Amino acid sequence: MKIGFIGAGKVGTAMGIFFKQNSLTLSGYLSRSETSSHCAAKATDSPVFFDIPSLINASEVIFITTGDDQISTVINQLVQTSCLTRDHTLVHTSGALSTDLFDPLLSSGCGLCSLHPIMSFADSLTASHNLKQTVFTLEGNEKGLADIQKILMITGNPYSVINKSDKVLYHAAACILSNYLVTLIDSGFELLKTTGIAEDEIMKAFMPLITATLGNVEKSGTVNALTGPLVRGDENTIGKHIEAIKTQTPKFLNLYQTMGLATIDMIKDKRIDGKTYDHLKNRLK
Ligand SMILES: NC(=O)c1ccc[n+]([C@@H]2O[C@H](COP(=O)([O-])OP(=O)(O)OC[C@H]3O[C@@H](n4cnc5c(N)ncnc54)[C@H](OP(=O)(O)O)[C@@H]3O)[C@@H](O)[C@H]2O)c1
Repeated sequence: MKIGFIGAGKVGTAMGIFFKQNSLTLSGYLSRSETSSHCAAKATDSPVFFDIPSLINASEVIFITTGDDQISTVINQLVQTSCLTRDHTLVHTSGALSTDLFDPLLSSGCGLCSLHPIMSFADSLTASHNLKQTVFTLEGNEKGLADIQKILMITGNPYSVINKSDKVLYHAAACILSNYLVTLIDSGFELLKTTGIAEDEIMKAFMPLITATLGNVEKSGTVNALTGPLVRGDENTIGKHIEAIKTQTPKFLNLYQTMGLATIDMIKDKRIDGKTYDHLKNRLK
């Protein structure tokens, strides 16, 4: 099965490296800029294409790994070539978008699939290593799913199939878990900076706390992993936090209160009783 990529960015390059490491055959890359095409082709020891018909003719599975907003443009270019047949499968890797995007290609009879890697691709090389442990979420038509499942059998990655109507909410959740986790960490770091602790000290001192907390979530689940004043019902401490934030870093007050309220909702009747919940809620409002 020859796999080609349109879009030689982080995901396209990382997936190409990973597929190659798993002895899959790459047809090559076509990107908006020749520089990106050449970089990905070099990283995967595969050819560069300069036009879409040549890439289609050399590939059986075509990944569109452009940014989300460019996928429809590429699909329109693919339609215009009239080169696609029922032997091809088209795949995109967007988390939020579904195979509905491929509607202009329905008459071609191609396999269609959206394949979302549940992973953060900050750079291609690190991401290609991380792909070994990545779980994928997919949806598509019969041929699309069958072809992608064949590829995932070879690479050994687990996957789950999702309803296309659930993709937007699924992706919003993935953004909370990845992107907003980063924002949350950054907010904590900002508060710490106002106390005068040096930036490199903050990273050194607090990363063990963050990684231990994530380890506890993995081991015991979210409710049981929670420690600290809310789960102890220490409402005076919460009151002190709020006063200090109000005075010294008021832009974080809303975040502290919203996260606090979400936390007590999570542990009500599991780790705290109704009376403690009411007291804490009053403090957090
Ligand atoms: N990054 C992540 O963590 C992540 C995780 C899961 C899924 N995804 C999904 O994976 C897809 C790619 O994301 P990414 O992070 O790899 O994006 P990216 O690094 O920005 O790469 C996109 C690449 O597509 C090329 N491109 C843009 N428009 C094009 C066009 N019309 N024709 C051909 N190539 C074009 C770009 O151009 P140049 O040739 O100019 O460089 C760039 O190299 C997105 O759908 C995204 O939602 C991303």
